[in-house]
Order: sequence, then structure tokens, then C-alpha cells
Amino acid sequence: MHPGASPPPPEPTAFDGRPGLIDTRGRALRDLRISVTDRCNFRCTYCMPAEVFGRDYAFLPHSEVLTYEEIHRLAGLAVGLGVQKLRITGGEPLIRKALPDLIAMLAGLRTPEGDRVDLTLTTNGSALRALARPLAEAGLNRITVSLDSLDDEIFRRMNGVDFPVARVLDGIAAARDAGLAPIKVNMVVKKGENEVSIVPMARWARDEGLILRFIEYMDVGTTNGWRLDDVLSAAQVVSAIDAEMPLEAAESSYRGEVASRWRYRDGSGEVGVIASVTQPFCGDCTRARLSAEGKLYTCLFSAQGTDLRAPLRGGASDADLRDLLESIWSARTDRYSELRTDATSRLPRVEMFAVGG
Ligand code: GTP
Ligand code: 5AD
Ligand code: SF4
Ligand code: SF4
Repeated sequence: MHPGASPPPPEPTAFDGRPGLIDTRGRALRDLRISVTDRCNFRCTYCMPAEVFGRDYAFLPHSEVLTYEEIHRLAGLAVGLGVQKLRITGGEPLIRKALPDLIAMLAGLRTPEGDRVDLTLTTNGSALRALARPLAEAGLNRITVSLDSLDDEIFRRMNGVDFPVARVLDGIAAARDAGLAPIKVNMVVKKGENEVSIVPMARWARDEGLILRFIEYMDVGTTNGWRLDDVLSAAQVVSAIDAEMPLEAAESSYRGEVASRWRYRDGSGEVGVIASVTQPFCGDCTRARLSAEGKLYTCLFSAQGTDLRAPLRGGASDADLRDLLESIWSARTDRYSELRTDATSRLPRVEMFAVGG
């Protein structure tokens, strides 16, 4: 270097110290959530209310949904850019035909360091009895099941299609028998609908050795009629459980973990809370979402995604697609939950079932 010349700027590094793409706020691209269908057999009140998503609702036609080959190609490129976790979502992912075939394809991907990716899936559990084993055999590592109450009446009302809770419990048992572990359970807490289920769910999950996470009801999409008044805060959830079964705060398992962890003081397990509304976690958000039609969203609350299907089907090379992914992620500024107000909840944005949560 010439005397007086300034040194080159340091290579940007992500907060986890690993190489990879980072956005304008220093956040790396580490997780890709892949929605394989926008359809669902449930009509949860907070996601796809039955009054809006009736019989004549136009879901994506088959030709507009990415094929498994297309998904595998994009996922492979994302893994090459630093993605370590792939989560399959929907709608309800298990209603897509031959899902184990996609799992087997994705299980073959390796990071630039030669490691396997963490391959997981979020489901409503209704089809797990039939699919847990084929999915595990195809290479799925673990699973998250959404379950909002153990009370049959409350559950049937919240899922919007009168689906019995016993069948989801049986699906969870099937996942366990198939060796999918750990099993996590997500419970969305909506004031006036299922807060009475908080403590029974916590007790049950602890006894069953499942990792339960309570999710604050969020203003995702534009159809669920969200109001701040319907949100029961994570702090209230923790204090309700703590009063019955004492808790202490636990370290997060990894930087950027969405759930804050709480351990039972008697060592019998843990619960998590996902406080997207009252304690936003955008600062560590390393997630991108690929919709079933091939749009990439850099935030759960984005109004728009970037279409990857047109270049995919239009003959783009891997280098072209990699450049596109790099340019999208490096321009990313999202931090919706940190900016949320009653007014922002009226802005246009993608629906939850299109990007899988
Ligand atoms: P692990 O890999 O098991 O730690 O799971 P995860 O917490 O990343 O994934 P999961 O799909 O179980 O996330 C739980 C829920 O938290 C989602 O379904 C969403 O409702 C919510 N959530 C996940 N990621 C985000 C996010 O980036 N922003 C917001 N606001 N909510 C999120
Ligand atoms: N608020 C919070 N969580 C939601 N989910 C769906 N809609 C909402 C919402 N409005 C959850 C589901 C599932 C995950 C994919 O996202 O219950 O666990
Ligand atoms: Fe379906 Fe999941 Fe939405 Fe419920 S939350 S309607 S199960 S996609
Ligand atoms: Fe990430 Fe957007 Fe959620 Fe913030 S609101 S954590 S940026 S997905």
C-alpha cells in the first residue's frame, strides 16, 4: 500500500461471523421458508377466515405453482449463498402431492462447507398419520405442528372447519413414532378465543416432552380483521404459566431465534414465546420466504415479492438467478414489526397462507 493511501474497507461480515450475503442492516440470509401450496384444508380465524376464503376463492392454478425441480434449484442457489435452514410451509404443505419427493431432493443439498441443511416443516398436523413416516424416510429432520387448543370445542371453532383435536394429537404421535425430533408445537393466542387453553397446553406439552411456543396474534395479511386489542402479550402468557408452573428465562439456542425460551424451574422442560408484536425481533431476522408461485419476500409483512418464476422459466442461468438473489437481499431494509402501529396494519401486504408464516 502507498504511504497515505487508505486501507481497503473491511469485508462485511454477518453477526454470526460466517461468510454470506448480508442486507443493509448486517443481517445474513440464513433461513429460507418455502411455501409449496397456497391451499389449506383449515380455515383458521386468524389466517384464512372462512367468510373470506369460501368455496369460490381462486387459489393458484397448478401451472402457476413452482415445480419441485424449480424449488430444488432455487433452494440450492440459496444454500450456496449461506442459507442453512429450509422450512417447508403452505398453506398446508402436506396437501401438496408427493411431498416426500421434494424432501428427498432438498435433503441432498449441501452448504459450501459440505454440511447438510436443517430441513423442517410447519404443518397443521391433519395428515401426519399418513405422511410422517414417508417424510422422515425422505430426510426430513424435524417438524412443527400448529395447535391452538386441546379443548375440542375451541379447536374446532378456531380451525374453521370443525376438525377434531384428536386427529391432530394422533398426527403428533405419528411424527414421534417416525422419529421426527424435536417436535415443536405452535399455539397462536387470540384474546377471547383460546387464552383459557394456555396453561393446559403448557402442562400437556411438558408431560409429552414437546417444545411448545406461544405466538402473539399478528397482523399478517389483510383479511383477519386484526386489532391490537385482540393480542394477548407474551409477557401475559409467561406470567399465566409461571403462576402454576414456575419458569426462568433461558438462553436462546442461536442468535436470531424467533422464540424467547423459558425453562421450568424444576427442570421438566421449556416453553417459548414469539412476541412479534410486543417485542419485535427484526434486528436478527435472517429469513426470506418463497411463495408457491415463486415470489421471494424479504419480510412476512411485505406488500410485494420479487418474481423468480419468470426468470426460472425464461431460461435464466444459475449465475443470473444468483445475481438476482444477491441484489434482492443486499438491498433489504425490512423491519416491519419494529415500525408496527394500528395504521401500518392497514397497509397492503402478502397473506400468511401465501408465505407460510
Ligand atoms: P425453529 O427453526 O424451530 O427455531 O423455528 P422458527 O421459530 O424459525 O419457525 P416457525 O415456523 O415455527 O416460527 C414460528 C412462528 O413465528 C411463525 O409461524 C410465525 O408465525 C412467526 N414468525 C416466524 N418468523 C417470523 C418473522 O420473521 N417475523 C415475524 N413477525 N414472525 C415470524
Ligand atoms: N398471527 C400469528 N401466527 C399466525 N399463524 C398464522 N396466522 C397467524 C397470525 N395472524 C401461525 C400459524 C402457524 C404458523 C405458520 O403461523 O398458527 O403455526
Ligand atoms: Fe391453514 Fe395454517 Fe393458515 Fe390455519 S394457520 S388456515 S392451518 S395455513
Ligand atoms: Fe423479519 Fe419482517 Fe418479521 Fe421483522 S417483521 S422479523 S423483518 S419478517
